[in-house]
Amino acid sequence: MSQDPRVVWHNQSVTKQLRFERHRHRGCVVWFTGLSGSGKSTVANLVEQKLFERGAHTYLLDGDNVRHGLCAGPNLLEPVHGSEFAKRFGLGFGPQDREENIRRVGAITELFASAGLICLTAFVSPYRVDRDRVRYGVESCGAKGDFLEVFVNTPLETCIARDPKGLYQQAIQGKIPNFTGISDPYESPESAELELAGDSQTPEHLAEQVIQMLIARKVITP
Ligand code: ADX
Repeated sequence: MSQDPRVVWHNQSVTKQLRFERHRHRGCVVWFTGLSGSGKSTVANLVEQKLFERGAHTYLLDGDNVRHGLCAGPNLLEPVHGSEFAKRFGLGFGPQDREENIRRVGAITELFASAGLICLTAFVSPYRVDRDRVRYGVESCGAKGDFLEVFVNTPLETCIARDPKGLYQQAIQGKIPNFTGISDPYESPESAELELAGDSQTPEHLAEQVIQMLIARKVITP
């Protein structure tokens, strides 16, 4: 829907079907969600490696990396763009900032899936409504089944024990506000396409489960 009559949609000649025929796999979004330290980035990275080895066209959008560019925080923007701009467009971790983070990333995944890529993402994405909006957007410009949610279900206690960046310790001490699992909620998916037990199997085994899911859902062939 465009609310501005000056902005119109242009249909393009290279269709999804043509891309499918060239790549020999569907374009889709594999959306990893879970607590910080749950293993999203590790597993998504392994899945991408496995897909790449099979000749699939992929791209992995990782939360930490995306926050260096597209969704940079005010501190990164300020030196180049000034403080007013940084305040307006820089993203932190408040509820609306996360909503905008996931909205921007969701829009990119729509483009990448339309381009015929298997687009993997690894974002905490703690709010159900934000993830569901991405699902709706991806399916609206593609087809049902193009958005595959993977819940990396690692207990909070395990994530706190791992604490790879030392953030949980700081959050527990009250030094980081709005920290998911400590001072901000994580809303588990209600009907994820796949749930991974992030604390009881190796990353390799978890990644293989994702590959099997992609085969079962006919994104890739065995
Ligand atoms: S999201 O909630 O907006 O989806 P995102 O995945 O981009 O979060 O976060 C990237 C990384 O920022 C996380 O992996 C985490 O380690 C770190 N981080 C820093 N502050 C917070 C916070 N308040 N809550 C959660 N993660 C945070």
